[in-house]
Amino acid sequence: MRRITVIPGDGIGKEVMQAAMLVLNELSLPFRYTWMEAGDEAYRKYGKALPDETLEECLKSDAVLFGATGETAADVIVRLRFELETFANIRPAKSYRGVKCLYDDIDIVIVRENTECLYKGLEFEVADGVTEGIRVITRKGSERIARFAFELAEREGRKKVTALHKANVMKKTCGLFRDVCREVAKSYDIEFNDYYIDAACMYLVMDPYRFDVILTTNMFGDIISDLAAGLVGGLGLAPSANVGEKHALFEPVHGSAPDIAGKGIANPSAMILTAVMMLKHFGHLDEAAKIEKALENVLAEGKTTPDLGGNLKTMEMAQEVVNSLKSM
Ligand code: NAI
Ligand code: MG
Repeated sequence: MRRITVIPGDGIGKEVMQAAMLVLNELSLPFRYTWMEAGDEAYRKYGKALPDETLEECLKSDAVLFGATGETAADVIVRLRFELETFANIRPAKSYRGVKCLYDDIDIVIVRENTECLYKGLEFEVADGVTEGIRVITRKGSERIARFAFELAEREGRKKVTALHKANVMKKTCGLFRDVCREVAKSYDIEFNDYYIDAACMYLVMDPYRFDVILTTNMFGDIISDLAAGLVGGLGLAPSANVGEKHALFEPVHGSAPDIAGKGIANPSAMILTAVMMLKHFGHLDEAAKIEKALENVLAEGKTTPDLGGNLKTMEMAQEVVNSLKSM
């Protein structure tokens, strides 16, 4: 039995989690779920956005399935990524039939380093009106994320890994990252190339088909994954995984969406696809493929929530996915 900590969080986090659970419970999986609290509501109740019991449970479990939190997101999700030492952030961008997007047949996975770079938070005010930020890139961190990207490519049968950097300007930090990626590429039988990040942004918009797996540093990965999500239909469809050596945390990219929370109209797709990523992580590939196929069918038939132009409620759309699963 795998031990899964489930944190619905706030707002639509709770609604989409309920929807994803309806779908997960349709399959018999060797998972034991423990529901825990975190987020704005937890903060109001206990004075802590990430209560100690929740953190302890996460540290003891094999994975965390996370909905979304509100204003306390930084105290919860950023802290959890750090505490669980999840060094790889995986963000797929895939276009689904029936969903309006800029390009059809996009299937890209972004592998973003999650612990280094400018996001380490080493920022200082060194004099009045003068601030500095330190960009940390290490051989160890770069090698770890590069190997992760190639192994993901092998596992998923992907054809190419593209590293993105700006080594012509950031000669030391991006230079090290690029060199390590090139070195690591030699030990895998997968096509490899690298681009400057600025050119890559243009290629992504004009010719996204030249990408398969994108491998990049923390801040570039943050920016480019939103760009990629924008290519394929937006937040209601964007899942993500944070993976480390010991722990893994799965979460949709979106937040608690206070503008629609409580109405029962949030799109559950991102959360369902997040659960699919968790299944893949544990090697339940058939079950993952089944759920994704079921969701694909529902999207293709236009049986969606209002954000994608449909008129279904969150749980109605989840029920459609369950019906599609039952008919397989
Ligand atoms: P958001 O992702 O919550 O919402 C942005 C827009 O997208 C809203 O108009 C919302 O209605 C829409 N949207 C998002 N997910 C949707 C879904 N599944 N179905 C349909 N529409 C959806 O981001 P926003 O508005 O910037 O932040 C709202 C709150 O969420 C803030 O308190 C923020 O701190 C928090 N947040 C938490 C995150 C997390 O827990 N990982 C990530 C991003 C924001
Ligand atoms: Mg971001």
